Amino acid sequence: MNSRLVATKIICRVVNNGQSLTSAIEIELSSIPNIKDRALIQAICYGTIRYYHCLNFILNRLLRKPLKDKEIRVLILVGLFQLKYMRIKSHAVVSQTVSAVNKKTWVKGLVNAVLRNYLRQEQNLKNLVEVNEIAKFSHPKWMIDWLKSDWPEHFEKILTENNRQAPMALRVNQLETTTDQYLKKLQEKDINAFVSSVRKDTIVLNSGVPVEQLPNFKKGYVSVQDTAAQLAAGLLGVQAGHRVLDVCAAPGGKVTHLLEVQPQIEKLVAVDIDENRLSSINENLLRLNVKADCIAGDACRPSQWWDNQLFDRILVDAPCSAMGVIRRHPDIKLLRRQEDIKKLQQLQKKILDAIWPLLKPGGNLLYVTCSVFKMENSTQVSDFLSRTPDATEIPIHANWGMTQVHGKQILTGENGMDGFYYACLRKN
Ligand SMILES: C[S@@+](CC[C@H](N)C(=O)[O-])C[C@H]1O[C@@H](n2cnc3c(N)ncnc32)[C@H](O)[C@@H]1O
Repeated sequence: MNSRLVATKIICRVVNNGQSLTSAIEIELSSIPNIKDRALIQAICYGTIRYYHCLNFILNRLLRKPLKDKEIRVLILVGLFQLKYMRIKSHAVVSQTVSAVNKKTWVKGLVNAVLRNYLRQEQNLKNLVEVNEIAKFSHPKWMIDWLKSDWPEHFEKILTENNRQAPMALRVNQLETTTDQYLKKLQEKDINAFVSSVRKDTIVLNSGVPVEQLPNFKKGYVSVQDTAAQLAAGLLGVQAGHRVLDVCAAPGGKVTHLLEVQPQIEKLVAVDIDENRLSSINENLLRLNVKADCIAGDACRPSQWWDNQLFDRILVDAPCSAMGVIRRHPDIKLLRRQEDIKKLQQLQKKILDAIWPLLKPGGNLLYVTCSVFKMENSTQVSDFLSRTPDATEIPIHANWGMTQVHGKQILTGENGMDGFYYACLRKN
């Protein structure tokens, strides 16, 4: 097994076949038992995809004529990533990458020559990268342009944060333990962590660990969830006896949190269109020992699954561009197309309009996205408010996020958080 070759196969699945990085890794790593090998392959895959636009720019300057073989192209990118960003000796990177070539000898020669050429021209290439926005920020042009237009003062920070590794945050289940007790348990296992400055029930690890290493994870003491996502349950203000609906619920991060903070919810209905993802809600409910009614259904067509009883609280964690979680899923930069955003905005609009009638008068609906595009966030809510006479906004007063015309925006990296948007709406 050559780690560089496996990494190349994984990246080819994403770049050439449009598969998600998570599923490509799952498939290719299933036959590799060694933990160290797996960790190295994952680091190479995430890194190469994170810096794909930059590495591609560099490669184009190193090749004398276009390279048609897609797999060899990716293999060279894998080599360049290691040379530019990993602390591995350059001669080891070159020899390991060349030995991953299972094709004709001249191809080995080409890979060797390009990587050595990079080492000779490193400084010159660095200078060229600095003056090219796509290479410097390693994002597609349209994303840079959109972020510039939405956030003229913050776009560089967002792009830089998108390329950083996200921290691992834990939600401490207060039904099982306290934050302090759990922090002590982590310390006993030499896992360094601290309590988030934004939420007192959130613990952030100094560096990520596999969940199996977290004390009592299987017993439901903690869940892995970004701090920004953990703000939803508090904002929805669920009380004992409430009927609650989560219409885009899988994999159940927010559903389970709602049940942890208010175990006396009368009924929680969790709907998701994706049946496979729905089973992950059931797994989470089981691990945390809480209950919800899970339904496979389309949020745009409630008549197909709704029992005609109104809800006190509704959570719409809408399908979105996921621009706020690029640092966790860097393949979004390769897979997401500009034209997808308009379609997602239409879907969000359709969901909001279809679900609003299910809310009791006096009830609240929390609209959430993990996006930083205004079109999916404050503009979406502004349009909804202007066409929905019985809806008013409840302003969010909090020590996080930026207050928008409507709702609050967390830009990626604020207090180490993912990019999230929240707006709270009340039915008059
Ligand atoms: C942002 S994710 C939800 C994350 C979830 N709330 C959590 O905290 O774990 C959006 C979800 O919306 C679902 N979805 C997309 N279109 C939908 C639709 N028309 N009806 C219901 N669910 C939909 C997707 O399958 C996806 O699971």
